[in-house]
Amino acid sequence: MDKPTEHTIETAGAAPRRSKRARMGACCKKFWWAWLIFVIIAIGIAAVILIFAIIPKIAQDKVNEADLTIHGLEIRQATPDSYKLSMDSSIHTGYGIGSKARIEPMTASLYIDSKKKPFLKVPVGEVHGKGDVPVVQEDYPVTIDDMDAMDQFVKGLMDNSTINFKLSGRSKLWLGKINTMINYNEDIELKGLNKLEGMVIKAYDILSKQADGSNMGGKVLIPNPTVFTIEMGNVGLKIGVSGKHAGIGYLPNLVLTPGNNLYDFRANISDLNVMIGALTAGTPLTIGSNGTMVNGEKIEWLSKPLESMDVLVPIDVSH
Ligand SMILES: *[C@@H]1O[C@H](CO)[C@@H](O)[C@H](O)[C@H]1NC(C)=O
Ligand SMILES: *[C@@H]1O[C@H](CO)[C@@H](O)[C@H](O)[C@H]1NC(C)=O
Ligand SMILES: *[C@@H]1O[C@H](CO)[C@@H](O)[C@H](O)[C@H]1NC(C)=O
Repeated sequence: MDKPTEHTIETAGAAPRRSKRARMGACCKKFWWAWLIFVIIAIGIAAVILIFAIIPKIAQDKVNEADLTIHGLEIRQATPDSYKLSMDSSIHTGYGIGSKARIEPMTASLYIDSKKKPFLKVPVGEVHGKGDVPVVQEDYPVTIDDMDAMDQFVKGLMDNSTINFKLSGRSKLWLGKINTMINYNEDIELKGLNKLEGMVIKAYDILSKQADGSNMGGKVLIPNPTVFTIEMGNVGLKIGVSGKHAGIGYLPNLVLTPGNNLYDFRANISDLNVMIGALTAGTPLTIGSNGTMVNGEKIEWLSKPLESMDVLVPIDVSH
């Protein structure tokens, strides 16, 4: 009688466990399709949240972290309403997902005042990979759409020691097969020409019988602390000594390049004796401008800030 009792006890103890497992198994077997649907819906919701909420936010955050550095900008072949732009810059996209992302080509708009029109729209090619991604343009033809915005930019560049502008663009960012729209906004600060402060006449010669009528020529140092190279053209000069008009001159085919560089000047001085007296006494000249011509055409957007220029230029021929 011992064994059946034991068996009964054993059965009494194990039966509920086995039947619970059995019930669950039966339930799962019976409602497996409900579980499957539940799992599929859960994955679907997670994917939707990922694609429509998390990835765009992460992508936008990554794009916000990206940094554009401008190494060089060149303005050449100016006409009254256009120029050729070369740009040497790079975008630092950061690491993590940034290194796997790809941003489709976009148009970047540059504004001094974001409430107004851009002074420049420039195409930016596809950006991908990690670290510094070069963004380069060579002789890109720019048509000046908004002259007021351009005037504001060139005046800021000529007059200010720093210029601030905004860059903005909208594009599609791809992460593998997933894409999302992103906004690229960046505040950029660059050095300006600061009214060409620091100009110095480094050499001069008295000339005679010159084809262009000049009776004086020499070298002038023009500091350019900016990343800009500007083909300024034939810059007309108004030369004065001690507040009196002393002659006119020009900087032939001036291409202002970054750094402290020497450029040729030519001048037609009305009274050479007065001028030589001033130069030997170390009296600084006052230099103004009547604007500039490129290929024989007056370029107003380059001329305007030059025409408001009035700088004291000392003479230092000691080298
Ligand atoms: C130049 O400086 C003036 C005065 O500080 C400022 O109003 C203007 O916005 C500046 N221009 C640029 C392009 O930064
Ligand atoms: C040089 O300037 C004087 C006036 O200061 C003018 O009479 C003369 O015609 C000018 N020479 C040339 C070649 O422009
Ligand atoms: C500046 O004035 C000189 C002399 O009058 C002239 O030859 C030159 O064309 C002028 N330059 C500009 C840009 O108007």
